[in-house]
Amino acid sequence: MSLERKGILLSGGKGSRLYPVTLAVSKQLLPLYDKPLIYYPLGTLMLGGIREILIITTPHDNNAFKRLLGDGSSWGVSITYAIQSQPEGVAQSLLIAKDFLKDSPCALILGDNLFYGNELVNILREADKNKNDSTIFTYPVSDPENYGVVEFDDIGRPKKIIEKPDKFISRFAITGLYYYDNTAVERARFLKPSSRGELEISALNQLYLESKNLHVHKLGRGHAWLDTGTIDSLIEAGTFIRTIEHRQGLKIGCPEEIAWRLGWINDEQLDKLAEPLLKSGYGNYLRQLLVDESLNDKYEVTYS
Ligand code: DAU
Repeated sequence: MSLERKGILLSGGKGSRLYPVTLAVSKQLLPLYDKPLIYYPLGTLMLGGIREILIITTPHDNNAFKRLLGDGSSWGVSITYAIQSQPEGVAQSLLIAKDFLKDSPCALILGDNLFYGNELVNILREADKNKNDSTIFTYPVSDPENYGVVEFDDIGRPKKIIEKPDKFISRFAITGLYYYDNTAVERARFLKPSSRGELEISALNQLYLESKNLHVHKLGRGHAWLDTGTIDSLIEAGTFIRTIEHRQGLKIGCPEEIAWRLGWINDEQLDKLAEPLLKSGYGNYLRQLLVDESLNDKYEVTYS
């Protein structure tokens, strides 16, 4: 039985809150400042040390994702693809991923979720160690009614998980990153479609909570968890990335850089990846990484 954690990147859905922008183009392929949106959650999985990744898309967008990402080998990862014929819920992704997962634990991430923060790598590593339980990550938001939310008891223990609560229960929204043990598929089989016709990921998390197999990790205010669900939030997230990238001269969610820093590709491979990207400046950035030894020491990712 393999205990290596595998990644599922859910990139389907209609993106109807972004219509007409997403009528012909998948939301997760839209640009978020200087790179396709999907690079960010893919980068998050990679930072968590995950190298075997299944990308789930709509039937008509599947080829576009393949054109963009291929089999992942040039980034030192393995990417395979599956199709979700209808957007019947986030938890359905686990049923689709059944054969891919076999008995492995997994990290499921939504293709439109963007995480940024200093301690992120260590937090992901901690969650990864815990192969027998599951971990969800919460983040305080001003509009909890739009998310899955955790209710806590008087002494701060998670009590209940509710999807888009009508009444205020807490400000702790559940982010679109879930670290599950190897019972997720089995548990997802018990789910029934909700009133909006979806297999809800919150219902699965509630099952884990009831069986006392769920850790709730509160991401602090030093992290950014950004939403890209609407035109305004997409622009705000892009502006955030632009501001930090300009200030530091370092890119956020750059899979080539992450692969290189983790030692999954070498200098020569990084240099080769830069070649076709020189005109946009992205390639220059990759080449500069090879030159800028002092920064490389300073910002080295400690994951190994
Ligand atoms: O972003 C975090 C939130 O994501 C969580 O707080 C909620 O608990 C969780 O249910 C989900 O909220 P939404 O219902 O708002 O998710 P949405 O329908 O916007 O889908 C999230 C992403 O997943 C989106 O990029 C589309 C994709 N998706 C969604 C569904 C339902 C699929 O690929 N297939 C699907 O069937």
